[in-house]
Amino acid sequence: MRLLAVALVLLGSLAATTPVVAAPAAETGGRHEVSYDRYSLMVDGERVMLWSGEFHYFRLPSPELWRDILEKIRAAGFTGVSLYFHWGYHSPSPGVYDFTGVRDVDRLLRMADELGLYVVARPGPYINAETSGGGFPAWLKTVEGRARSSDPGYRAAYTEWLGHLNPIIARHQVSRGGSVIAYNVENEYAVNVDAAYMEDLQRQARDAGIDVPIVHNNCCGGNLANWSSGKGAVQIPGVDDYPQSFDCHNPDAWGPWGDGVTRRLRDDAPVYAAEYQAGAIDLNNAGYDKCRELTGPSYMKVFYKNNAIASGATMFGYYMTFGGTSWGWLPQPNDVYTSYDYGSAITESRQLTAKYDEFKRQGYFMTTVAPLTKTDAATAPVPADPAVLARARANPDTGTQFVLVRQADLAGAADLSTTLDWTTPDGRYQVPVRVNGRDAKILVAGYDLGGQRLAWSSSEVLTHVTVSGRDVAVLYGRDGEQGSTVLRYDSAPTVQVLDGEVRHSYEDGDLRLDYRHTGLARVLVTGGGRQPLLLMLGTDETAARFWRQDTSAGPVLVRGASLVRSAEVRGDRLALRADTDRASDVEVFAPVRHLTVGGRPVPVRRTPSGSLLGSLPGPEQVRLPALTNWRHRAEPPGFDESGWTTADKTTTASPIKPKTLPVLYADEYGHHNGNVWYRGRFTATGAEKTVSVNAITGRRGIYLVWLNGRYLGSAPGGTQADSEPVNPDPGRGDFAVPEGLLSAGQQATLTVLVENMGHNDDWTADDVRHKQPRGLFGVAVEGSTAPISWQIRGSLPTDGERGPMNTGGLYGERAGWHLPGDGGGWQNTPGELTPGVSWYRTTFRLDLPRGHDVSLGLRFDDTTDRDYRVLVFVNGWNMGQYLNGVGPQREFVLPAGVLRDHNTLTFAVISTEAAQGDPGPVSLVTLGNHRTGAGADREPRR
Ligand code: GAL
Repeated sequence: MRLLAVALVLLGSLAATTPVVAAPAAETGGRHEVSYDRYSLMVDGERVMLWSGEFHYFRLPSPELWRDILEKIRAAGFTGVSLYFHWGYHSPSPGVYDFTGVRDVDRLLRMADELGLYVVARPGPYINAETSGGGFPAWLKTVEGRARSSDPGYRAAYTEWLGHLNPIIARHQVSRGGSVIAYNVENEYAVNVDAAYMEDLQRQARDAGIDVPIVHNNCCGGNLANWSSGKGAVQIPGVDDYPQSFDCHNPDAWGPWGDGVTRRLRDDAPVYAAEYQAGAIDLNNAGYDKCRELTGPSYMKVFYKNNAIASGATMFGYYMTFGGTSWGWLPQPNDVYTSYDYGSAITESRQLTAKYDEFKRQGYFMTTVAPLTKTDAATAPVPADPAVLARARANPDTGTQFVLVRQADLAGAADLSTTLDWTTPDGRYQVPVRVNGRDAKILVAGYDLGGQRLAWSSSEVLTHVTVSGRDVAVLYGRDGEQGSTVLRYDSAPTVQVLDGEVRHSYEDGDLRLDYRHTGLARVLVTGGGRQPLLLMLGTDETAARFWRQDTSAGPVLVRGASLVRSAEVRGDRLALRADTDRASDVEVFAPVRHLTVGGRPVPVRRTPSGSLLGSLPGPEQVRLPALTNWRHRAEPPGFDESGWTTADKTTTASPIKPKTLPVLYADEYGHHNGNVWYRGRFTATGAEKTVSVNAITGRRGIYLVWLNGRYLGSAPGGTQADSEPVNPDPGRGDFAVPEGLLSAGQQATLTVLVENMGHNDDWTADDVRHKQPRGLFGVAVEGSTAPISWQIRGSLPTDGERGPMNTGGLYGERAGWHLPGDGGGWQNTPGELTPGVSWYRTTFRLDLPRGHDVSLGLRFDDTTDRDYRVLVFVNGWNMGQYLNGVGPQREFVLPAGVLRDHNTLTFAVISTEAAQGDPGPVSLVTLGNHRTGAGADREPRR
C-alpha cells in the first residue's frame, strides 16, 4: 500500500506541469489516472480543486430528486460530493443486502458520473451521521465482539457489507471512467483505536479493486493526527472541524470550537478539510433556521476563506450541503429528530438559501482561479492597521498571490479600512482594503485572467469565462464598499463604462478602475494589446445572480433565474435547463444567437454588453386540497391475539446485561425498528402492589403499560443503562396495581408497548454505547414472585420497496394499515379515544401545475397541551414522527416520488391519556414553488 502511494505521488509530480482545474472525469469518459502530491489531487496530471458538498442519499427516499440535489450542488460550483453509505439502510438481517429502489447506490454513482461530480465514497463501516446506530445495522448489536475493532465477530459482519458495496464503488472510480476520486475508511476513528482494523479496511478495499487514494476524516479540528503515519495510516489524512459547535440557540457565537483548518498532517499529501462545518444539528431544539444563522454567510466567509489561505487546502467536504430527512427509523434519537435539515445551504425542502449564494461566490472562485490548486505559504503584505490580519499564499509556478484579509481578532466586529503595502508580481502597490465586521476577503494579484493580466484588485473574483475571443469577468464586493482593480496593458486601452459609475486612469501599463460596489457596473475594455474584456463589478447580491455552466463550447455565464441546472451549446443556440421562482430577466454570455429554456424558445435581444437578454415567466400558483374525510380504526392492545414470539433468552451479546431475566431486548428477537409490543403472563396471588418497569427507548421515547386490559399509565423510556454515571435503573416507571384487579390463582396478563426511537451511535467505539438495548430492560411485580412468561411482537423483517427502516411493530403496521389501498375496517367516526394506538386515514389528490417543482410539507397546528405522538405515513412511507407538546418539529417535508397524484395519508397516533389522541388541525403546505427545467430536454454531459 505504501509502495502504491509512493508510485502515485511520483506519477503526479512527473505529470503536473501547468496547473489547471481538471475537467470532471466523466466528461471525457474512459479511464483516468488519479494521483496526488502535497498540493492537490490530480487527474491525468491536471490539478483538481476538490470542493465537495456532503449529501446523504438515504435521507431523500426519491432517487429522481437525488439528481435535483446533485444538479443544485454542481450549479453552485462544487466539483464533488461526499457520500456516506449506510450499512443498516441496506441490511435488515445478517447476510441480507438490498441495493434496489431508494437504495440503488449504483444509480446514485451513475448520476454523479453523468453530472461530472467527483465523489468521495465514505462506506464506513461506521459513519456516525446522527443516524440510527451510526450506520450500523441494529442486528450488529447481537454479534459478539467489539465493533470498530479487529474482533473476528465484527470483522465477519463488516466483510459482508464491504463485500457488497466495494465492487459497486470500484466500478465508478475515475480510474474506470467514473467519478469516485477518493475512498474514506472509517469515520473519526480516534478512540479505542485498532490499527489492524484500519489496515484490514484498506486491504479489503484494495482487494476489491479500489485504486483511488484512501483517505480518513480525523476528528476534532485537526487536533488529532491519527492515521497520518505508522500502522494503519491512510494516504490522505483529512480533518473534521465544527468550529461553531451545535448550540443553535446562540447563532451569534463565533468559533467556540476553534478557528479552522490550519494544519498539514502529511508532507506528501494535500491538506484535506474532510468534514467542514456547513450547518449544525439542532441539539437543543432551537429550530434549524437558527442553525442556518449560526453557520451563515459571515461565518462561511471568515472560516472557509481562512482555511483555504491558512492551510492551502485543496480538498474540502462541506457537511451538510443538503441535510434531508431522517425518515422512518433513521434518526439517532439522542441527537436529532425527523428533520435533518441541518441549517444547510439547501433546505430539507430543497430550497436554495443565502448560504447557497455564499457557497456559489466562494465555489466559483475556488474552481475558476486555477493557481489556487498549488500554493505555498508566502509573506503577507503588512496592513497599516494591525487590527486587520493579512495572510498570503503564492503559486510557485505562476507567481499568483492570494491574500486573505480579516479581523486580527477573529470575533472582532469593527469596521476597519486600511492599506496593504503589497509587493505583487507586477510591482509594489498601496492597496486599500476594508473589513467591516465579520467578513473576510481573498484578494488576488498577478493573475492571468483569461487573456488579461490582473495586477491586483481589492474586489473579489467571482469567476470569468472566455466567449468568442472576449473575456467576461465578474468581480464583487460588499454593497457600498469602495473597490479598485488594476489590469496591465501594453498601451492605453479603450475603456467604455456601459453601466454604473467607474473612474479609470492609465499610467505605465496600469489601467486602474475605481468604483463603489452597488448594483452591477459594466466596463468594456478593448485594445491595449489584449483581447477584449467585459468586466462586471457587482455586490454580493448581484454576483450571486450569476450562474456558470460548462458546455462543449466552454464555460458560459447566465444571469437571472433562480437556478441554472445545465447549459448546452447547440449550433447558434444555448439550451438551458433552468428554474424560476418569480418572473425575471435572463441574460446569457455565450457564443450563440438564440436561447431556449426548458426546451422553449425565449425571445432575446443583443445588449450593449454583447450578451443576449430575455425574460422568463415565474411559476403558476399552487392550490392544495384540504385534508378532510378522516376515517378511523383502533389498534387492539394485543391482549389475546396469537402470532407472538416467545421471549425466553437468558444471554445476550450486549455488554449491557438486563436487570431481570429473560432478556427482553427487542433486537434479540429480530425486531430492530419501531414500536414493540410485549405480553407477560403470570399467575396472580392477589397481593400484587406495583408493577415496576424499566424500558429503554432512546431520547423522547415512551412506553405504555396495561394489566389485564386495564391501562396503568405510561413513562418516558431511558436512553441508556450504562453511561456516565452508570445508570442501573433506566426508564423506570412504577405503576400501582388497582385494588381487586388480580385474584389469587388466576392468570394475569401484563401488556407493554415500548417505543424504539432508533439506536445509539458508537462514537466512542467502545461497544457500550451502540449495544445499548431497546425494549424492556427489567420488569418486577412487587408482591409476587411468580415467574412471568413473555412474548414479543415487533416489526416484520422488511418492506421490500421502502426498506428495513420504514416499518415498526404496531399491530396496524404488521397488518399493512399504513399502506395505500382500503383494506376495509375503517370507520367514518372515531370510536372512544382510549390510551394506546389509534389509526387515522384520509386520501387526497394533488393537481400541481405541470413543469413545476413544488415542494410540499405536512403541518400540525395543535396546541401543545395534549400528549400524543403521530407516525406519519404517506402512501406507506413513514415520513417522520410528530410529538405534540414535545416538538420541536411541526412541519414534515413530503418529497415528490413519495407523493403522487393520488395519495393516502395515514397516522398511527399513540396517546397516553384518554380522549387526547385526535391530532388537531393538519394541513398541506407549500414549501417551494418553481417553474422548473428539471425534467426538460436533459442531456447528460456524457
Ligand atoms: C462528525 C461526524 C459526522 C456527523 C457530524 C455532526 O463528527 O463525522 O458523521 O456526526 O460530526 O453532525
